[in-house]
Amino acid sequence: MKKPIIWAIGGGKGGVGKSVLSGNLGIALAKKRKQVVLIDSDLGGANLHTCLGIANPQMGLSDFLSKHIRQLKDVVVPTTFPYLSLISGARDSLNVSNPKHTQKLKILRAIRNLETEHIILDLGAGSNFNTLDFFLAADIQVIVVVPEPTSIENAYRFVKSSFYRQIRQKSPNSSIRSIVDQTIGQSDRLGFRNPHEFLAHLRTMGSEIGEFVDEQVLTFNPKLIVNQIRSSKDRRIGFAMRNACAKYFGIQLDFAGSIEYDDNVRQSIIKRQPLLEIFPQSSFASGVLEVCDNLLYGRFLESEKLS
Ligand SMILES: Nc1ncnc2c1ncn2[C@@H]1O[C@H](COP(=O)(O)OP(=O)(O)OP(=O)(O)O)[C@@H](O)[C@H]1O
Ligand SMILES: [Mg+2]
Repeated sequence: MKKPIIWAIGGGKGGVGKSVLSGNLGIALAKKRKQVVLIDSDLGGANLHTCLGIANPQMGLSDFLSKHIRQLKDVVVPTTFPYLSLISGARDSLNVSNPKHTQKLKILRAIRNLETEHIILDLGAGSNFNTLDFFLAADIQVIVVVPEPTSIENAYRFVKSSFYRQIRQKSPNSSIRSIVDQTIGQSDRLGFRNPHEFLAHLRTMGSEIGEFVDEQVLTFNPKLIVNQIRSSKDRRIGFAMRNACAKYFGIQLDFAGSIEYDDNVRQSIIKRQPLLEIFPQSSFASGVLEVCDNLLYGRFLESEKLS
């Protein structure tokens, strides 16, 4: 059996639309007859089931973590959509909102071994290590931003933190790990202003480390969705962020597309029915379908379309 393609939907700030997008991207893939398992990895604030119209999942990730259920596949519940199932995080999850290192590894290993074509991880807000590790475990790493300074700031922080975390994880060498720890610590003791300076420093440490760094830069390639846009100016934030990441971070952030602010989203949540199902003609639905295709086929926006 082929390994599943893992998607992670993160982005730092709360309330930007990660869960709504995860659910609707899952439905978009399922409509293409791709077998999908959605996983609510926001253990502290699980609510993906609500976006899918499932009132109270009988079991979830917390049951797997508490050893109550041994196999991850046994906490997968069906949804009302063919090809789409769910692992909820819900149910009494307070005790696992911050899983220990071994629990996290257990979940990640089990996720990779699930028998499905696609897995979508809905991440929690913030850039804590657990969230970053789920993000880095994905093949398609998506960052959601909304056109507000706080969200943009958090998204940049998320890009930086996950990149540093990847370098630390993959590092063959304890001196690199120590430099990363000093850089991402509270005080940023080494005073690098951005990942560009950080990488330049690592490259001075010898050609082997230089090669390692080059490989990390090449393989770290997150995707950006700008959600809740209200104007073409908002849409341009995607291009601006992509350019800024290349210039100041030396990181390629691909712009996967933007999705309009649409009141139907709220309506669909109140009605507890996924938007793609009840408002298939809405601007949100067409935005999700386009972004889904871009992510699935690796097509990204190069520059503003002339229209
Ligand atoms: N394109 C959109 N247009 C209008 N409203 C939207 C859009 N996307 C998301 N929302 C609204 O934003 C709210 C937050 O969405 P959601 O719960 O998916 O965010 P989140 O990023 O998962 O938050 P958290 O970090 O707290 O889990 C929802 O109630 C929804 O109504
Ligand atoms: Mg959420």
